[in-house]
Amino acid sequence: MTSNFRALEASESEGKFDLSIVEKKVDDLPEGDLLVKVSYSSLNYKDAMSATGMPGVTRNYPHIPGIDAVGAVVNSEVSDFKEGDDVIVTGYDLGMNTSGGFGEYIRVPATWAIHLPKGLSEKQSMSLGTAGLTAGLSVHALDSFRKWAGFKETKSIVTGSTGGVGSVSVMLLSKLGSEVTAVTGKDDQADFLSSLGASNILSREELSETARKPIGKSLWDIGVDVVSGEALSLLLTSLSPGGAVACSGLVGGPSFESSIFPFILRGNALIGIDSVEIPLKTKEHIWEHFAGDWALDGLEAITKEVSLDNLETEITSILNGNQVGRVLVKI
Ligand SMILES: NC(=O)c1ccc[n+]([C@@H]2O[C@H](COP(=O)([O-])OP(=O)(O)OC[C@H]3O[C@@H](n4cnc5c(N)ncnc54)[C@H](OP(=O)(O)O)[C@@H]3O)[C@@H](O)[C@H]2O)c1
Repeated sequence: MTSNFRALEASESEGKFDLSIVEKKVDDLPEGDLLVKVSYSSLNYKDAMSATGMPGVTRNYPHIPGIDAVGAVVNSEVSDFKEGDDVIVTGYDLGMNTSGGFGEYIRVPATWAIHLPKGLSEKQSMSLGTAGLTAGLSVHALDSFRKWAGFKETKSIVTGSTGGVGSVSVMLLSKLGSEVTAVTGKDDQADFLSSLGASNILSREELSETARKPIGKSLWDIGVDVVSGEALSLLLTSLSPGGAVACSGLVGGPSFESSIFPFILRGNALIGIDSVEIPLKTKEHIWEHFAGDWALDGLEAITKEVSLDNLETEITSILNGNQVGRVLVKI
């Protein structure tokens, strides 16, 4: 077996962070039950934070980012996985302080890995990646809050809609029968959002003009929010009775304001979504949905495939809020 492998490494010198392609040794990977030869990873906002030394993700450098990986088991210390099995690993500590999916090999605890479900290809799994998993968890949580009422004849709203979590959320909600309003900062992406299934498109300014504080008209039944800040405040003022917002991100800042009115007058809920530390069974459940009743036909069309050599440009782009759809990384 190859003892060296290629990876995109972030390093730090005197407070400055740099990215380069390096040769690493498999023997230097952390201890773990599974050695996996990575086929694909994907780019998430958190990877860009880790790759550029932004606080709160990675403590020690040099480091190989990549919170997502799919690939084949090369060596297994546990009976649940055998050599050649295809596995998906997302979240937990992968790519944070454990060497991640932007390298040809990872070694991880078996408790971080699920078998690639039948019906989902390696490429499809990483076209979704953590962003898709988060979209799926959001939709699942909203359905659960609404007592599995389904999404037919619901009105939904998605913020950050051209980004990773946003674009998959628009596609999924639309597939499930919801009438989706997509909020975006990108004036030129109306065609893209319509192709995902959005029925209405609002600029961020139009959202501010449409929704009223501290409580306004009931405009949407459910929301998926990755922005936080003003956008989340406005979504909360505009839900119908019994409606809810699932929030997962903070691209618009870590804080938001709200009054008590949506909660006590309309029984609304704000549901927090974590895709990282949740039980493996919950992740597996969402992946099974994507392999079955949630299979998304248009996934390929929203996904750009890049190699490790081209990833730095994409990292800059996601940090600037300029990505559209998903970035699949061929390892
Ligand atoms: N809780 C979890 O487990 C979890 C999992 C995955 C991601 N996240 C978080 O979710 C967020 C989105 O992740 P992602 O991978 O989807 O990122 P992404 O692909 O960069 O998408 C974010 C989108 O938000 C919009 N946006 C960017 N900057 C903005 C700003 N200043 N104000 C308002 N909107 C802005 C942009 O879309 P438009 O131009 O269309 O508005 C952008 O494309 C991040 O904060 C990430 O850390 C959390």
